[in-house]
Amino acid sequence: MSLGEEVADLVGQIRRQLINSQEIGLDAPFLSSNTRNYLRTGPQMDVAPSGEDFYGSSLKELEDFVGNCDRCKLSKERKNIVFGEGPSDARLVFVGEAPGMEEDVAGRPFVGRAGRLLTGIIKAMGLTREEVYICNIVKCRPPGNRDPERDEVVTCLPFLKAQISLIRPEIICALGRVPAQSLVDKDFRITRDRGQWHHFLGIALMPTYHPAYLLRYPQAKRQVWEDMQKIMKELRLKDPRESRD
Ligand code: URA
Repeated sequence: MSLGEEVADLVGQIRRQLINSQEIGLDAPFLSSNTRNYLRTGPQMDVAPSGEDFYGSSLKELEDFVGNCDRCKLSKERKNIVFGEGPSDARLVFVGEAPGMEEDVAGRPFVGRAGRLLTGIIKAMGLTREEVYICNIVKCRPPGNRDPERDEVVTCLPFLKAQISLIRPEIICALGRVPAQSLVDKDFRITRDRGQWHHFLGIALMPTYHPAYLLRYPQAKRQVWEDMQKIMKELRLKDPRESRD
């Protein structure tokens, strides 16, 4: 983590702590008006995708800013940009790797087989797909579903950072190795390191297996469910299975 990222992480954690205090009626009287503003609106966009400045304040403005992107080589073969979908005040953001063939055609994230499994996981958590935000590390399909390459991730990551800065969710769930390596640590090993809390931009991040991995290795579902229960506990969600008679 660079010093800048460390500071952003720290500021984000302090912000969340202050918001939590406000929510339970503790208003800190020593805050300057700038700090109060910051608490209310979140950081103004401090990311500069591809060296350009983005000063918008909504996901729609960000999507317009991304435009018909040709900032990296993935633009050559993609059909549609898969920006991401969900409410701008989602408490939980799922970050996958990259759009696959079906997502490329539909222009929507996680609509194929792995997506149906993800939708099932979200339901099992007592949420609906419409309540969470779903996006990917890169917004265009890598040819042949290969892993996104470093230059592609570096080019696209500022847009994900901007999305997360706008949404300010309580929790990010990284689905699989590629998002965990991009958001946590390049040496992250999903089998060794999943299921532990990390932070990205000051937001709690839980890495777990990608749903496509679960299609190949259904025995890993139990571990994913353990990871989801940690998220549910943080979000104070009740396990819907427990209330069944
Ligand atoms: N796999 C991903 O990582 N993302 C999608 O959107 C679909 C499949």
